[in-house]
Amino acid sequence: ITNPEEISTLVNKNYRLPQDYTPNDLALISPTFSKGEKYLRKEAKQAFEKLGADASEKGYTIRLSSGFRSYEYQKILYTYYVNHNGKEYADLCSARPGHSEHQTGLSFDVEGSLYDYNRFEETKEFLWMKENAHRYGFILRYPKGKEKITGFKYEPWHYRYVGKEIAGIIKENNLTLEEYLSQT
Ligand code: DAL
Ligand code: ZN
Repeated sequence: ITNPEEISTLVNKNYRLPQDYTPNDLALISPTFSKGEKYLRKEAKQAFEKLGADASEKGYTIRLSSGFRSYEYQKILYTYYVNHNGKEYADLCSARPGHSEHQTGLSFDVEGSLYDYNRFEETKEFLWMKENAHRYGFILRYPKGKEKITGFKYEPWHYRYVGKEIAGIIKENNLTLEEYLSQT
């Protein structure tokens, strides 16, 4: 892709980031809202911290467990999945290096009050995110029933920053980013 910096940039199995791409405005997420030292692009970080603070005020615990990932780190993750689960399965749940949205600095995984992203769907935080994330500019990126379009298994924990306007349209019309972009 040629527009990695664009907030609505599309990175998926068909669209790849340059190997050396690292956003130039990565910002550290407040430790209050993250697990360890995690980074997102500035605009996404600010929106996420706002979400985290509002959620916390209402009694929810939402923590970012994975944010920006470099090409090299994604390569390690993908290779791990291939070695442990085989290529076919790996390609359903892990992006190949250059093809992960995590490299944009606009995507992240969250965990809730069970402190396990894999069990995020079982938490009250999941329901809150589902109803409220778009108000902060985030979308559930790999929804259930859209696997053929996104190319990935349903991931209740993976969110993507696209800004409030696009997030609102996507949420209201039950779209994926692929569908939204093909309509505009
Ligand atoms: N789990 C998502 C698809 C990724 O690896 O970027
Ligand atoms: Zn993810």
